[in-house]
Amino acid sequence: MTDLAQLELDLINAIGSAESVAAVEEVRVAALGKSGSVSGLLKGMGALSPDARREQGPLINGLRDRVSAAIAARKAELEADELDARLLAERVDLTLPPRPRRKGGVHPTMQVMDEMVAIFAEMGFAVAEGPDVEDDFHNFTALNFPPKHPAREMHDTFFLKPDPQTGERKVLRTHTSPVQVRTMMSQQPPIRIIAPGRTFRKDSDATHTPMFHQIEGLVIDRDIHMGHLKTTLQTFIGRFFELDEVQARFRPHHFPFTEPSAEMDIRCDRSGGQLTFNTGDDWLEILGCGMVHPNVLSACGLDPNEWQGFAFGMGVDRLAMLKYGVPDLRPMFDADTRWLAHYGFSAFAAPNPASGLS
Ligand code: DAH
Repeated sequence: MTDLAQLELDLINAIGSAESVAAVEEVRVAALGKSGSVSGLLKGMGALSPDARREQGPLINGLRDRVSAAIAARKAELEADELDARLLAERVDLTLPPRPRRKGGVHPTMQVMDEMVAIFAEMGFAVAEGPDVEDDFHNFTALNFPPKHPAREMHDTFFLKPDPQTGERKVLRTHTSPVQVRTMMSQQPPIRIIAPGRTFRKDSDATHTPMFHQIEGLVIDRDIHMGHLKTTLQTFIGRFFELDEVQARFRPHHFPFTEPSAEMDIRCDRSGGQLTFNTGDDWLEILGCGMVHPNVLSACGLDPNEWQGFAFGMGVDRLAMLKYGVPDLRPMFDADTRWLAHYGFSAFAAPNPASGLS
């Protein structure tokens, strides 16, 4: 038997006896990886005489193609087996009647949203809503994003297909701020609303998911200033994290829709792998906020000389993670019942200020 035929036989045997996708991958790397045996032969062809190359080329290429095909087939087979085994092991009989042991739970994000709504409701805020599919005007233009400005791209926006008639491209809202615009355009001040809801951005890692939740706040009245904003947010954060007093700082920032803009940080200590508030020299960013930009008021039909206001926006999932010690954002949206059983809340203990928030 030639060396080539022997190599092929060895590889096919190794592929056939690999018992896991990882083991197949090892064979692939040993044969076809950068310094694999087959790759070595292919590289060596350059040094052959033209005649030898004409003879060896098709043999080596054929060997490579057959080995690649065998690897792909074995991988597919093992992946199917692994999936079957997982489906069998994680089988849930959905036809079984619910038993107390299997009762559903409230997702931490929803729990935290209810807590936030309860706190703000007590402070006199109403809940407002807007659509998940927004237009450019409400998501960007009315919020003082300049036309064609890179800020639109900065938001990692999901664009929908253009409308065949108008060419207009709707977006999945990248923040809950468009609800500010909808509220100002449909109600007369004074306004005091919060807008909880889903938001979307092309982003995915341990602290970002393409769908996440925000809560927006907007207050419009006469003679509103930064003092109102600070007190409102410090009171809210104190109640949310159940702290008597909150040591916060307002750090200058930029948002197109507020001027001045700030991010609110709370004092924290991260030593020893534990997060504690109000001690230490560290700061944790909690939310964005600012005084509503006069251009936004004008775009919504309000006279900036008559009305002022403040706005804020924060990530609900992130605050849920912080409050309830959830380490990774992604499993929050995997709909894995084991995760929910661990982190979920009882549906019969809805947060309200009278019985306690958490
Ligand atoms: N919309 C901002 C974002 O998603 C958050 C935000 C910042 C909202 C400041 C506000 C605000 O209302 O005043 O990044």
